[in-house]
Amino acid sequence: MRLSDCHSFHDFRRMAQARLPGPIFDYIDGAADDEVTYRRNTAAFETCQLVPNVLRGVGEIDMSVTVMGQKLAMPVYCSPTALQRLFHHEGERAVAAAAGKHGTMFGVSSLGTVSLEEARRISSGPQVYQFYFHKDRGLNRAMMERAKQAGIEVMMLTVDSITGGNRERDKRTGFSIPFRLTLAGMMQFAVKPAWAINYLTHESFKLPQLDGHVDMGGGALSISRYFTEMLDPCLSWDDVAAMVREWGGQFCLKGVMSVDDAKRAVEIGCTGIVLSNHGGRQLDGSCSAFDQLAEIVDAVGDRIDVIMDGGVQRGTHVLKALSLGAKAVGLGRYYLFPLAAAGQPGVERALDLMRSEIERDMRLMGCASIDQLTRSNLRYA
Ligand code: LAC
Repeated sequence: MRLSDCHSFHDFRRMAQARLPGPIFDYIDGAADDEVTYRRNTAAFETCQLVPNVLRGVGEIDMSVTVMGQKLAMPVYCSPTALQRLFHHEGERAVAAAAGKHGTMFGVSSLGTVSLEEARRISSGPQVYQFYFHKDRGLNRAMMERAKQAGIEVMMLTVDSITGGNRERDKRTGFSIPFRLTLAGMMQFAVKPAWAINYLTHESFKLPQLDGHVDMGGGALSISRYFTEMLDPCLSWDDVAAMVREWGGQFCLKGVMSVDDAKRAVEIGCTGIVLSNHGGRQLDGSCSAFDQLAEIVDAVGDRIDVIMDGGVQRGTHVLKALSLGAKAVGLGRYYLFPLAAAGQPGVERALDLMRSEIERDMRLMGCASIDQLTRSNLRYA
């Protein structure tokens, strides 16, 4: 399978599956418990239909949006995701460069494998720093300070991961960082020579955001154990209010799902919230961001930028979310499979396809700009 054969999320996913060792593919593809929420995320977009208008003069399409003070050339951005160097040696560098070319925002994770400073130099687009709140308060302070120095535009605190989700695929494969190679695991790696050569002939795996703070002790740590052992489950609204004050700039909470929490985010001075269930990877059985979007936009949409992510695979998914009042939409697996499949050209192709889907779909909807997408364009059957 070649990159030019990839025309949709599913094609990229298949190409990534062919290239990646099983445990790594399952880490990206998997979710918590029975993966009900993971499936719901995409299925939720089918609970409503688009109602197009015609004859509206849609020669020129402007799909730019402004979110948390950042002007984006397209209404989607690359959400921060962890461990990208495991998927392809270019890792975050590829994602930063592709997002920059498309004039959109990208995120670097606390668990990123390229430093936030290096990513900052690669892309001219706005950069989000995804922050995990650790038990080690000194580490938290150092991370904040470093992000300020690096000129990060948006601080994004993930609040849905104060303990590890039950990722059963990872338990079965023994996926951990750095790898623990079980016998079964080794077989998986041996049958994917292209990945293994790429991995072994490039720089070694690092977590530069946490360097000097997290001691892997030469041992292996599962993502679930990292969340459970290193992150602080006592994190409270008061702690976050203090962080918002300390940051003094665009501050966004990722993982808000209830109307009450959305209101509290406004009260403590956040400038954005991302409705998200972490790609179904944390609390299985939770609703999808799309399910909650209308109610939360109605409650706080005039006071804070409401963003959503989860399950977005198509331009029409983006249009539905924007019609309900989302200011922008985050992508995760949508760009990770292309990264794993082909590095930067893969991510660029995926964003190209998304861009042309959005453009085509806006024309077909009779909308020349994003503000013309409204709830009158949606019908709930
Ligand atoms: C995940 C974290 C690290 O694996 O974002 O979902």
